[in-house]
Amino acid sequence: MIGLGYWGPNLVRNLFELESAELVLVCDQRAEAVEQVRRRYPSVRGATSTDDVLEDPAVEAVVVATPIGTHLELARASLSAGKHTLVEKPLADSIAGAAELAHLARERGLVLVPGHTFLYSPPVQAVQEMISAGELGDIYFISTSRVNLGLHQSDASVVWDLAPHDFSILLYWLRETPTYVTALSRGCVIPDTPDVAFLNLEYASGVIAHAELAWLAPSKLRRTTVVGSRKMVVYDDTSIEPVRVFDSGVTLRDPGTFGEYRLSYRTGDIVSPRVDVSEPLSLELDDFCRSIRGGSQPRATAELGLDVVRMIEAAERSLTQGGARAEVAAAESLSGPSA
Ligand SMILES: NC(=O)c1ccc[n+]([C@@H]2O[C@H](COP(=O)([O-])OP(=O)(O)OC[C@H]3O[C@@H](n4cnc5c(N)ncnc54)[C@H](O)[C@@H]3O)[C@@H](O)[C@H]2O)c1
Repeated sequence: MIGLGYWGPNLVRNLFELESAELVLVCDQRAEAVEQVRRRYPSVRGATSTDDVLEDPAVEAVVVATPIGTHLELARASLSAGKHTLVEKPLADSIAGAAELAHLARERGLVLVPGHTFLYSPPVQAVQEMISAGELGDIYFISTSRVNLGLHQSDASVVWDLAPHDFSILLYWLRETPTYVTALSRGCVIPDTPDVAFLNLEYASGVIAHAELAWLAPSKLRRTTVVGSRKMVVYDDTSIEPVRVFDSGVTLRDPGTFGEYRLSYRTGDIVSPRVDVSEPLSLELDDFCRSIRGGSQPRATAELGLDVVRMIEAAERSLTQGGARAEVAAAESLSGPSA
C-alpha cells in the first residue's frame, strides 16, 4: 500500500480486514505517516521508499493512493516491476498517461484497476441493474450534484478531484462515453484552481447529463436524478433511503386535433428498494484480488479509467476555450503506448 495521507488509511483498514488479501507492506515518503499506521497494525512492515515495495518478492499487488500527479510514474513503476496495480482515481493526469498504463497492463498480463469506488457502492449497483433491465425505459437525462465544504487539493482542480466519481458512475450506468463536454468553472478561493464547476455532457444516443461539482457549499449534497421514459430515480448517497424509484412520467398521446398535443401525466408509487450496506472500498479491493486470482474482469476496468480521463480532458479543453463545446477524444487512437 503506497500513500498514507488522507485516503490511504481507509484502504489500509479494508486491506487488513480483507480475507482475500494479506497486507504485508505500507509505504509513504513521510516516515511519520508510516509509523502512525504501523502503531495500529504492528504486524505490517513499513517503508519510506517505493523501491522497497517494488523490489519485494512478497508483494504481488500494489495499491497506490498518492496525489494525482504521481499516479502515472508510480503505477508505471509498479506494473513494470510485475505487480498487479490498483491506482486511486483518476488513473492518470492525462489521456496519454492513462492509455500507457492500460497498454502496459495488457502487455504484461497484469490486473490494473482504477479506484472508482462508487462502482462498488450498492446504491449505484442497484440503479445500474434497473437501467440495464430497462425498468426506467429510455434514459432521457441525468443530473447530479456533488458539493460540500470540501478539502481544497493543492495539485488538482475540483474537476480532476470530483468529476471521476460522476463520470465513472455515468459510464457504468449508460455504457456510453459522451461525445461532447461543455464546462464552466471558477477558482473562488485559490486563483486559477477551480473549486466550482458545472459540466454538461452530450451523448450520441441523445442522453444529456449535467454535473455540478464544488468544494464550496454550505451543506453536503450527493444527489443524482435519473429521468427515464418509464420511471425516474433519485440516488442520494447521504440518505438512509439512498435509492428512490418514482413511477412517474409524462406520455405524449396521439394528437387529437391538428396542432394540439395530448399529454398524459402519471404520478404513481414511490419505492425505496432495500440496498446492501457493504462498504464499497472493501468490495472494490476484493474485486481487485479476485481478478488477480481468478482472471475475471474487474468491474472497474483500465479502459473505464481511461474513458474517465478522456471525459476530464474534454472538460478541461472546454474550460480553456471559455466554455466551448469540446469533443471527447476518440478511443480508437488510444490503444498504443504514449510517446
Ligand atoms: N476513491 C475515493 O473516494 C477517494 C477519496 C479521496 C481521495 N482519493 C484519491 O486518493 C489519492 C490520495 O488522496 P489524498 O487526499 O489521500 O492525498 P494526500 O495528499 O492526503 O496523501 C497522499 C500521500 O501520498 C504520499 N506520497 C506522495 N508521493 C509519494 C511517493 N512517491 N512515495 C510514497 N508516498 C508518497 C504523501 O506523503 C501523502 O502522505 C488521490 O488520487 C485521490 O484522488 C480517492
